[in-house]
Amino acid sequence: MRSFTRADLDKFYDWRNDPYVARFQGWPLPYSRDRANDFMVEMETATPGIPGQWYQIAITKKDTAELIGDCAFCPRQSGIQTEIGYTLARPYHGYGYATQAVRGLVDYLFDQQKMHRISAYCDTRNSPSFKLLQKLGFRLEGHYIENYKDGNMWASEYHYAMLRREWEARG
Ligand SMILES: CC(C)(COP(=O)(O)OP(=O)(O)OC[C@H]1O[C@@H](n2cnc3c(N)ncnc32)[C@H](O)[C@@H]1OP(=O)(O)O)[C@@H](O)C(=O)NCCC(=O)NCCS
Repeated sequence: MRSFTRADLDKFYDWRNDPYVARFQGWPLPYSRDRANDFMVEMETATPGIPGQWYQIAITKKDTAELIGDCAFCPRQSGIQTEIGYTLARPYHGYGYATQAVRGLVDYLFDQQKMHRISAYCDTRNSPSFKLLQKLGFRLEGHYIENYKDGNMWASEYHYAMLRREWEARG
């Protein structure tokens, strides 16, 4: 896990524009190169842990150092609760990489950022995402029925969360 640099632009741009990867994400397609570039510039100088601002962290493979995805967090106004998100480029799905990365992110958020609670939303059809959360010990706190529009259809979301003491109890 490391900070983004401008050298990451091409790969980041590619996965942001992959319809399969973007299927349950908040960004609209096509995702322009200018927007990807602005994002890289912003992340180079961004400070993690500012309430209301997403901070994105690059995920790389340990053996080859290649960039494979990102994970992110956005603290609430209190600064001690945060939402998280995560995305991998399609060739890297299904190998357990996101589970490893999000475990690292959760460690960082509880240990370094001193968070009290971490939460995540996912579309109820996004089984890789909610399986990952369940595997790491997140609890289902909410099931929102048809709470957002996916094109012309209503879609539903799960809301998962974990407290610091629950993470510590897992050891
Ligand atoms: C969600 C995402 C990050 C998971 O990444 P990943 O590295 O493939 O996840 P893992 O390999 O760690 O697997 C997590 C769980 O999902 C399962 N899974 C992975 N790919 C799957 C698929 N295509 N269909 C069903 N289950 C799948 C795994 O088997 C695992 O569950 P298990 O331990 O019970 O077997 C990845 O699918 C992704 O980037 N999706 C697009 C972006 C996205 O939707 N992000 C989440 C927004 S809430």
